[in-house]
Amino acid sequence: MKKLIDNKSIVLGVSGGIAAYKSVELLRLLIKRGANVRVIMTQNAQEFVGPITFEALSGQPVCTSLFEKGGDVSVRHIEWANEADAVVIVPATANIIGKLANGVADDALSTFMLAVTCPVMLCPSMNTHMFENKAVQRNLERLKADGHFVIDPESGELACGATGPGRLPDPEDILDRLLYYLSPKDLKDKRVLVTAGPTREPIDPVRFISNPSSGKMGFAVARAAEQRGGKVILITGPTNLPDPNNVTVIRVGTAREMAHAVFENVEGSDIIIKSAAVSDYRSKDQAEQKIKKEKDEMVLFLEKNQDILEELGRRKKDQILVGFAAETENLEQHAERKLSEKNLDIIAGNLVGQPSSGFGADNNKVTLFYKDGTKESLPEMEKDDVAHILLDRILGVR
Ligand code: CTP
Repeated sequence: MKKLIDNKSIVLGVSGGIAAYKSVELLRLLIKRGANVRVIMTQNAQEFVGPITFEALSGQPVCTSLFEKGGDVSVRHIEWANEADAVVIVPATANIIGKLANGVADDALSTFMLAVTCPVMLCPSMNTHMFENKAVQRNLERLKADGHFVIDPESGELACGATGPGRLPDPEDILDRLLYYLSPKDLKDKRVLVTAGPTREPIDPVRFISNPSSGKMGFAVARAAEQRGGKVILITGPTNLPDPNNVTVIRVGTAREMAHAVFENVEGSDIIIKSAAVSDYRSKDQAEQKIKKEKDEMVLFLEKNQDILEELGRRKKDQILVGFAAETENLEQHAERKLSEKNLDIIAGNLVGQPSSGFGADNNKVTLFYKDGTKESLPEMEKDDVAHILLDRILGVR
Protein backbone atom coordinates (compact mmCIF):
# COMPACT_ATOMS: atom_id res chain seq x y z
CA MET A 1 0.00 0.00 0.00
CA LYS A 2 1.67 3.17 -1.18
CA LYS A 3 0.73 5.31 1.82
CA LEU A 4 2.38 2.86 4.24
CA ILE A 5 5.80 3.59 2.74
CA ASP A 6 5.50 6.82 0.75
CA ASN A 7 7.08 9.73 2.62
CA LYS A 8 7.67 7.53 5.66
CA SER A 9 10.90 7.44 7.54
CA ILE A 10 12.34 3.93 7.47
CA VAL A 11 15.59 2.86 9.08
CA LEU A 12 17.38 -0.03 7.43
CA GLY A 13 19.74 -1.83 9.80
CA VAL A 14 22.39 -3.93 8.07
CA SER A 15 24.41 -6.48 10.03
CA GLY A 16 27.34 -8.55 8.81
CA GLY A 17 26.11 -11.52 6.82
CA ILE A 18 26.84 -12.72 3.32
CA ALA A 19 23.30 -11.67 2.33
CA ALA A 20 24.04 -8.00 3.12
CA TYR A 21 24.12 -7.29 -0.62
CA LYS A 22 20.37 -8.00 -0.79
CA SER A 23 19.72 -5.06 1.54
CA VAL A 24 21.05 -2.77 -1.20
CA GLU A 25 18.23 -3.92 -3.49
CA LEU A 26 15.70 -3.58 -0.67
CA LEU A 27 16.88 0.00 -0.15
CA ARG A 28 16.31 0.68 -3.85
CA LEU A 29 12.78 -0.75 -3.68
CA LEU A 30 11.93 1.34 -0.61
CA ILE A 31 13.26 4.52 -2.24
CA LYS A 32 11.28 3.75 -5.41
CA ARG A 33 8.14 3.59 -3.27
CA GLY A 34 8.81 7.04 -1.85
CA ALA A 35 10.36 6.16 1.53
CA ASN A 36 12.93 8.30 3.25
CA VAL A 37 15.48 5.63 4.21
CA ARG A 38 18.35 5.96 6.66
CA VAL A 39 20.89 3.18 6.93
CA ILE A 40 22.77 2.01 10.02
CA MET A 41 25.50 -0.58 9.47
CA THR A 42 27.40 -2.72 11.93
CA GLN A 43 31.17 -2.91 11.72
CA ASN A 44 30.98 -6.42 10.24
CA ALA A 45 28.38 -5.40 7.62
CA GLN A 46 30.97 -3.04 6.17
CA GLU A 47 33.17 -6.05 5.38
CA PHE A 48 30.46 -7.19 2.93
CA VAL A 49 29.12 -3.92 1.44
CA GLY A 50 30.57 -0.42 1.60
CA PRO A 51 28.58 2.41 3.21
CA ILE A 52 29.06 4.49 0.05
CA THR A 53 26.69 2.21 -1.86
CA PHE A 54 23.93 2.85 0.69
CA GLU A 55 24.82 6.52 0.88
CA ALA A 56 24.53 6.97 -2.87
CA LEU A 57 21.20 5.15 -3.11
CA SER A 58 19.58 6.68 -0.04
CA GLY A 59 20.97 10.18 -0.57
CA GLN A 60 21.67 10.30 3.18
CA PRO A 61 24.73 9.81 5.37
CA VAL A 62 25.07 6.26 6.62
CA CYS A 63 25.57 5.69 10.34
CA THR A 64 28.41 3.26 10.99
CA SER A 65 29.60 4.18 14.47
CA LEU A 66 28.47 5.96 17.62
CA PHE A 67 31.56 8.12 17.48
CA GLU A 68 31.63 9.59 14.00
CA LYS A 69 33.16 12.97 13.36
CA GLY A 70 30.79 15.91 12.89
CA GLY A 71 28.41 18.08 14.88
CA ASP A 72 25.37 16.17 16.06
CA VAL A 73 26.52 12.57 15.62
CA SER A 74 26.52 11.64 19.28
CA VAL A 75 22.71 11.88 19.37
CA ARG A 76 22.03 10.82 15.80
CA HIS A 77 20.86 7.36 16.81
CA ILE A 78 18.31 8.85 19.26
CA GLU A 79 17.06 11.35 16.68
CA TRP A 80 16.69 8.64 14.02
CA ALA A 81 14.89 6.38 16.50
CA ASN A 82 12.43 9.16 17.35
CA GLU A 83 11.74 9.92 13.71
CA ALA A 84 11.45 6.35 12.39
CA ASP A 85 8.05 4.99 11.27
CA ALA A 86 9.50 1.48 10.87
CA VAL A 87 12.80 -0.33 11.24
CA VAL A 88 13.91 -3.30 9.13
CA ILE A 89 17.05 -5.29 9.94
CA VAL A 90 18.31 -7.05 6.81
CA PRO A 91 20.11 -9.36 7.25
CA ALA A 92 19.81 -9.99 10.97
CA THR A 93 22.78 -12.11 12.08
CA ALA A 94 22.88 -14.34 15.16
CA ASN A 95 24.99 -11.68 16.82
CA ILE A 96 22.57 -8.75 16.42
CA ILE A 97 19.63 -11.05 17.27
CA GLY A 98 21.41 -12.03 20.51
CA LYS A 99 22.18 -8.44 21.39
CA LEU A 100 18.65 -7.19 20.71
CA ALA A 101 17.05 -10.03 22.65
CA ASN A 102 19.18 -9.15 25.65
CA GLY A 103 19.22 -5.37 25.50
CA VAL A 104 22.93 -5.13 24.75
CA ALA A 105 24.02 -1.77 23.32
CA ASP A 106 27.63 -1.82 22.21
CA ASP A 107 27.56 -0.32 18.72
CA ALA A 108 25.52 2.12 16.62
CA LEU A 109 22.82 -0.34 15.51
CA SER A 110 22.23 -2.05 18.86
CA THR A 111 22.25 1.27 20.72
CA PHE A 112 19.81 2.79 18.22
CA MET A 113 17.53 -0.23 18.64
CA LEU A 114 17.15 0.36 22.37
CA ALA A 115 15.73 3.80 21.61
CA VAL A 116 13.26 2.61 18.93
CA THR A 117 9.52 2.68 19.67
CA CYS A 118 8.10 2.08 16.14
CA PRO A 119 7.39 -1.34 14.48
CA VAL A 120 10.52 -3.46 13.97
CA MET A 121 10.93 -6.26 11.43
CA LEU A 122 13.89 -8.66 11.54
CA CYS A 123 15.02 -10.83 8.66
CA PRO A 124 17.36 -13.51 10.04
CA SER A 125 19.90 -15.05 7.70
CA MET A 126 22.73 -17.40 8.64
CA ASN A 127 24.07 -20.93 8.38
CA THR A 128 21.39 -23.57 9.07
CA HIS A 129 23.05 -24.95 12.19
CA MET A 130 23.48 -21.45 13.56
CA PHE A 131 19.83 -20.67 12.83
CA GLU A 132 18.69 -23.89 14.50
CA ASN A 133 20.98 -23.35 17.47
CA LYS A 134 18.96 -23.29 20.69
CA ALA A 135 20.33 -19.94 21.83
CA VAL A 136 19.43 -18.28 18.51
CA GLN A 137 15.92 -19.80 18.54
CA ARG A 138 15.47 -18.72 22.15
CA ASN A 139 16.55 -15.17 21.27
CA LEU A 140 14.19 -15.07 18.28
CA GLU A 141 11.28 -16.24 20.46
CA ARG A 142 12.12 -13.54 22.95
CA LEU A 143 12.18 -10.88 20.21
CA LYS A 144 8.77 -12.08 18.98
CA ALA A 145 7.43 -11.95 22.54
CA ASP A 146 8.78 -8.40 22.77
CA GLY A 147 6.50 -7.52 19.85
CA HIS A 148 8.96 -7.58 16.96
CA PHE A 149 8.02 -9.14 13.63
CA VAL A 150 10.48 -11.86 12.64
CA ILE A 151 10.26 -13.35 9.15
CA ASP A 152 11.34 -16.91 8.51
CA PRO A 153 14.43 -17.42 6.39
CA GLU A 154 14.01 -19.54 3.28
CA SER A 155 15.29 -23.06 2.95
CA GLY A 156 17.75 -23.97 0.25
CA GLU A 157 21.40 -24.09 -0.60
CA LEU A 158 23.29 -21.49 1.43
CA ALA A 159 26.45 -19.57 0.56
CA CYS A 160 28.39 -21.71 3.07
CA GLY A 161 27.44 -24.88 1.15
CA ALA A 162 24.92 -26.18 3.72
CA THR A 163 21.32 -26.90 2.76
CA GLY A 164 18.45 -25.95 5.04
CA PRO A 165 16.76 -22.87 6.52
CA GLY A 166 18.88 -19.74 6.71
CA ARG A 167 18.68 -18.04 3.33
CA LEU A 168 17.50 -14.44 3.22
CA PRO A 169 14.31 -14.08 1.12
CA ASP A 170 14.48 -11.95 -2.01
CA PRO A 171 14.13 -8.18 -1.51
CA GLU A 172 10.66 -8.15 -3.16
CA ASP A 173 9.51 -10.72 -0.61
CA ILE A 174 10.99 -8.73 2.27
CA LEU A 175 9.14 -5.63 1.04
CA ASP A 176 5.95 -7.69 0.75
CA ARG A 177 6.34 -8.87 4.38
CA LEU A 178 7.01 -5.29 5.52
CA LEU A 179 3.80 -4.18 3.83
CA TYR A 180 1.99 -7.11 5.47
CA TYR A 181 3.35 -6.06 8.85
CA LEU A 182 2.41 -2.41 8.45
CA SER A 183 -0.99 -2.92 6.74
CA PRO A 184 -4.21 -2.47 8.69
CA LYS A 185 -5.95 -5.85 8.74
CA ASP A 186 -9.22 -4.59 7.29
CA LEU A 187 -9.83 -7.88 5.40
CA LYS A 188 -9.33 -10.04 8.49
CA ASP A 189 -11.52 -13.16 8.37
CA LYS A 190 -12.62 -12.37 4.79
CA ARG A 191 -12.29 -15.11 2.22
CA VAL A 192 -11.07 -13.72 -1.06
CA LEU A 193 -11.02 -15.68 -4.32
CA VAL A 194 -8.88 -14.18 -7.09
CA THR A 195 -8.31 -15.38 -10.65
CA ALA A 196 -5.34 -14.32 -12.74
CA GLY A 197 -3.42 -14.85 -15.94
CA PRO A 198 -4.43 -16.20 -19.33
CA THR A 199 -5.83 -19.62 -20.13
CA ARG A 200 -4.38 -21.93 -22.76
CA GLU A 201 -6.64 -23.86 -25.09
CA PRO A 202 -4.69 -26.66 -26.81
CA ILE A 203 -4.95 -27.22 -30.56
CA ASP A 204 -2.44 -30.06 -30.69
CA PRO A 205 0.32 -31.19 -28.28
CA VAL A 206 2.55 -28.24 -29.20
CA ARG A 207 0.13 -25.40 -29.96
CA PHE A 208 -2.52 -23.49 -28.11
CA ILE A 209 -4.83 -20.44 -28.23
CA SER A 210 -4.03 -17.88 -25.56
CA ASN A 211 -3.50 -14.17 -24.93
CA PRO A 212 -0.66 -11.98 -23.57
CA SER A 213 -2.00 -11.67 -20.00
CA SER A 214 0.97 -11.85 -17.59
CA GLY A 215 -1.11 -12.41 -14.45
CA LYS A 216 0.55 -9.41 -12.75
CA MET A 217 -2.73 -7.64 -11.94
CA GLY A 218 -4.35 -10.69 -10.32
CA PHE A 219 -1.20 -11.59 -8.38
CA ALA A 220 -1.03 -7.99 -7.14
CA VAL A 221 -4.65 -8.27 -5.95
CA ALA A 222 -3.92 -11.57 -4.18
CA ARG A 223 -0.81 -10.13 -2.48
CA ALA A 224 -2.65 -6.98 -1.42
CA ALA A 225 -5.59 -8.94 0.02
CA GLU A 226 -3.22 -11.19 1.99
CA GLN A 227 -1.30 -8.18 3.32
CA ARG A 228 -4.62 -6.86 4.65
CA GLY A 229 -5.41 -10.07 6.51
CA GLY A 230 -7.62 -11.86 3.95
CA LYS A 231 -7.63 -15.62 3.47
CA VAL A 232 -6.80 -15.73 -0.20
CA ILE A 233 -7.17 -18.40 -2.86
CA LEU A 234 -5.54 -17.53 -6.19
CA ILE A 235 -6.54 -19.54 -9.26
CA THR A 236 -4.19 -18.73 -12.08
CA GLY A 237 -3.53 -19.72 -15.65
CA PRO A 238 0.08 -20.17 -16.84
CA THR A 239 2.35 -17.32 -15.68
CA ASN A 240 6.00 -16.91 -14.71
CA LEU A 241 5.14 -15.36 -11.36
CA PRO A 242 6.09 -16.93 -8.01
CA ASP A 243 3.39 -17.91 -5.49
CA PRO A 244 2.52 -14.95 -3.25
CA ASN A 245 3.26 -15.43 0.46
CA ASN A 246 0.54 -17.13 2.51
CA VAL A 247 -1.84 -17.51 -0.43
CA THR A 248 -3.34 -20.84 -1.57
CA VAL A 249 -2.37 -21.01 -5.24
CA ILE A 250 -4.09 -23.31 -7.74
CA ARG A 251 -2.43 -23.38 -11.16
CA VAL A 252 -4.58 -24.36 -14.13
CA GLY A 253 -4.23 -24.51 -17.91
CA THR A 254 -7.52 -24.28 -19.77
CA ALA A 255 -10.68 -22.25 -19.23
CA ARG A 256 -12.50 -25.44 -18.33
CA GLU A 257 -9.89 -26.22 -15.64
CA MET A 258 -10.21 -22.67 -14.36
CA ALA A 259 -14.00 -22.96 -14.21
CA HIS A 260 -13.72 -26.25 -12.35
CA ALA A 261 -11.26 -24.81 -9.81
CA VAL A 262 -13.39 -21.68 -9.29
CA PHE A 263 -16.63 -23.59 -8.70
CA GLU A 264 -14.84 -26.04 -6.36
CA ASN A 265 -13.47 -23.21 -4.23
CA VAL A 266 -16.12 -20.51 -4.40
CA GLU A 267 -18.10 -21.79 -1.43
CA GLY A 268 -17.68 -19.45 1.53
CA SER A 269 -15.98 -16.65 -0.45
CA ASP A 270 -16.85 -13.14 0.66
CA ILE A 271 -15.12 -11.40 -2.23
CA ILE A 272 -14.44 -12.71 -5.74
CA ILE A 273 -12.13 -10.79 -8.05
CA LYS A 274 -11.87 -12.17 -11.58
CA SER A 275 -8.90 -10.60 -13.26
CA ALA A 276 -8.10 -13.65 -15.43
CA ALA A 277 -8.16 -13.17 -19.19
CA VAL A 278 -10.17 -16.30 -19.92
CA SER A 279 -10.11 -17.55 -23.48
CA ASP A 280 -13.63 -17.19 -24.85
CA TYR A 281 -13.20 -20.12 -27.25
CA ARG A 282 -11.43 -23.46 -27.36
CA SER A 283 -10.56 -25.67 -30.29
CA LYS A 284 -13.41 -28.10 -30.97
CA ASP A 285 -11.02 -30.95 -31.67
CA GLN A 286 -7.58 -31.49 -30.24
CA ALA A 287 -5.21 -33.34 -32.51
CA GLU A 288 -3.40 -36.14 -30.71
CA GLN A 289 -0.29 -35.62 -32.79
CA LYS A 290 1.35 -32.43 -34.03
CA ILE A 291 -0.59 -31.05 -37.00
CA LYS A 292 1.58 -31.05 -40.14
CA LYS A 293 1.63 -28.11 -42.56
CA GLU A 294 0.24 -29.98 -45.52
CA LYS A 295 -2.39 -27.63 -46.90
CA ASP A 296 -2.13 -23.95 -47.82
CA GLU A 297 -5.14 -23.15 -45.66
CA MET A 298 -6.62 -24.79 -42.67
CA VAL A 299 -9.82 -24.26 -40.75
CA LEU A 300 -9.94 -24.50 -37.00
CA PHE A 301 -13.36 -24.99 -35.44
CA LEU A 302 -13.79 -23.25 -32.12
CA GLU A 303 -16.45 -23.68 -29.48
CA LYS A 304 -17.38 -21.29 -26.75
CA ASN A 305 -16.06 -21.65 -23.21
CA GLN A 306 -18.38 -21.10 -20.30
CA ASP A 307 -18.39 -17.53 -19.00
CA ILE A 308 -17.26 -18.20 -15.42
CA LEU A 309 -18.02 -14.72 -14.16
CA GLU A 310 -21.51 -14.69 -15.66
CA GLU A 311 -22.26 -17.96 -13.89
CA LEU A 312 -20.90 -16.56 -10.61
CA GLY A 313 -23.16 -13.54 -11.13
CA ARG A 314 -26.16 -15.83 -11.55
CA ARG A 315 -25.33 -17.76 -8.36
CA LYS A 316 -24.38 -14.67 -6.35
CA LYS A 317 -25.89 -14.36 -2.89
CA ASP A 318 -24.18 -11.89 -0.60
CA GLN A 319 -20.68 -11.96 -2.07
CA ILE A 320 -18.99 -8.99 -3.66
CA LEU A 321 -18.24 -9.78 -7.27
CA VAL A 322 -15.62 -7.84 -9.23
CA GLY A 323 -14.71 -8.25 -12.88
CA PHE A 324 -12.13 -6.81 -15.23
CA ALA A 325 -12.69 -5.64 -18.77
CA ALA A 326 -9.78 -5.18 -21.12
CA GLU A 327 -11.03 -3.32 -24.18
CA THR A 328 -9.57 -1.85 -27.32
CA GLU A 329 -12.41 0.67 -27.86
CA ASN A 330 -15.60 2.04 -26.27
CA LEU A 331 -14.37 1.17 -22.77
CA GLU A 332 -17.26 2.77 -20.91
CA GLN A 333 -19.98 1.19 -23.01
CA HIS A 334 -18.50 -2.33 -22.91
CA ALA A 335 -17.56 -2.19 -19.23
CA GLU A 336 -20.99 -0.97 -18.17
CA ARG A 337 -22.70 -3.69 -20.21
CA LYS A 338 -20.54 -6.40 -18.62
CA LEU A 339 -21.14 -4.91 -15.15
CA SER A 340 -24.89 -5.29 -15.52
CA GLU A 341 -25.00 -8.53 -17.60
CA LYS A 342 -22.69 -10.36 -15.17
CA ASN A 343 -24.39 -8.94 -12.03
CA LEU A 344 -21.16 -7.38 -10.71
CA ASP A 345 -20.56 -4.85 -7.94
CA ILE A 346 -17.53 -3.31 -9.61
CA ILE A 347 -15.79 -3.73 -12.95
CA ALA A 348 -12.26 -2.43 -13.52
CA GLY A 349 -11.93 -1.42 -17.15
CA ASN A 350 -8.78 -0.61 -19.01
CA LEU A 351 -7.82 0.08 -22.58
CA VAL A 352 -5.22 -2.38 -23.80
CA GLY A 353 -2.60 -1.53 -26.37
CA GLN A 354 -0.77 1.16 -24.36
CA PRO A 355 2.82 -0.02 -23.82
CA SER A 356 3.13 1.48 -20.30
CA SER A 357 -0.05 -0.05 -18.92
CA GLY A 358 -2.22 -3.11 -19.40
CA PHE A 359 -1.05 -6.56 -20.51
CA GLY A 360 2.39 -7.48 -19.18
CA ALA A 361 3.23 -4.03 -17.80
CA ASP A 362 3.90 -3.22 -14.13
CA ASN A 363 1.51 -0.30 -14.34
CA ASN A 364 -2.15 -0.06 -15.17
CA LYS A 365 -4.58 2.76 -15.85
CA VAL A 366 -8.06 1.66 -14.93
CA THR A 367 -11.50 3.14 -14.59
CA LEU A 368 -13.72 1.62 -11.93
CA PHE A 369 -17.41 1.33 -12.82
CA TYR A 370 -19.80 0.79 -9.91
CA LYS A 371 -23.20 -0.87 -9.91
CA ASP A 372 -24.88 2.39 -8.81
CA GLY A 373 -23.91 3.85 -12.20
CA THR A 374 -21.00 5.97 -10.97
CA LYS A 375 -17.43 5.62 -12.18
CA GLU A 376 -13.95 6.62 -11.07
CA SER A 377 -10.95 7.07 -13.36
CA LEU A 378 -7.67 6.32 -11.64
CA PRO A 379 -4.39 7.74 -12.94
CA GLU A 380 -1.75 5.35 -14.26
CA MET A 381 -0.07 3.65 -11.30
CA GLU A 382 1.64 0.43 -10.26
CA LYS A 383 -0.60 -2.62 -10.33
CA ASP A 384 0.11 -3.10 -6.59
CA ASP A 385 -1.43 0.30 -5.92
CA VAL A 386 -4.40 -0.36 -8.24
CA ALA A 387 -4.98 -3.56 -6.24
CA HIS A 388 -5.10 -1.74 -2.92
CA ILE A 389 -7.44 0.98 -4.21
CA LEU A 390 -9.72 -1.72 -5.62
CA LEU A 391 -9.78 -3.40 -2.19
CA ASP A 392 -10.53 -0.04 -0.52
CA ARG A 393 -13.52 0.38 -2.84
CA ILE A 394 -14.68 -3.22 -2.31
CA LEU A 395 -14.72 -2.55 1.45
CA GLY A 396 -16.94 0.45 0.72
CA VAL A 397 -19.55 -1.61 -1.21
CA ARG A 398 -22.85 -1.86 0.61
N1 CTP B 1 -14.64 -13.97 -17.94
C1 CTP B 1 -14.92 -15.22 -17.41
N2 CTP B 1 -15.11 -16.29 -18.22
C2 CTP B 1 -15.01 -16.18 -19.56
C3 CTP B 1 -14.72 -14.90 -20.12
C4 CTP B 1 -14.55 -13.82 -19.28
O1 CTP B 1 -15.00 -15.34 -16.17
N3 CTP B 1 -15.18 -17.23 -20.32
C5 CTP B 1 -14.48 -12.82 -17.03
C6 CTP B 1 -13.08 -12.25 -16.99
O2 CTP B 1 -12.31 -12.87 -15.98
C7 CTP B 1 -13.33 -10.78 -16.71
C8 CTP B 1 -14.68 -10.50 -17.32
O3 CTP B 1 -15.31 -11.77 -17.48
O4 CTP B 1 -13.42 -10.51 -15.32
C9 CTP B 1 -14.66 -9.78 -18.63
O5 CTP B 1 -13.83 -10.48 -19.53
P1 CTP B 1 -13.61 -9.95 -21.01
O6 CTP B 1 -12.74 -10.91 -21.74
O7 CTP B 1 -13.22 -8.50 -20.97
O8 CTP B 1 -15.07 -9.95 -21.60
P2 CTP B 1 -16.00 -11.02 -22.23
O9 CTP B 1 -17.18 -11.15 -21.32
O10 CTP B 1 -15.27 -12.28 -22.57
O11 CTP B 1 -16.51 -10.28 -23.53
P3 CTP B 1 -15.74 -9.91 -24.90
O12 CTP B 1 -14.63 -10.94 -25.05
O13 CTP B 1 -16.80 -10.04 -25.92
O14 CTP B 1 -15.24 -8.52 -24.73
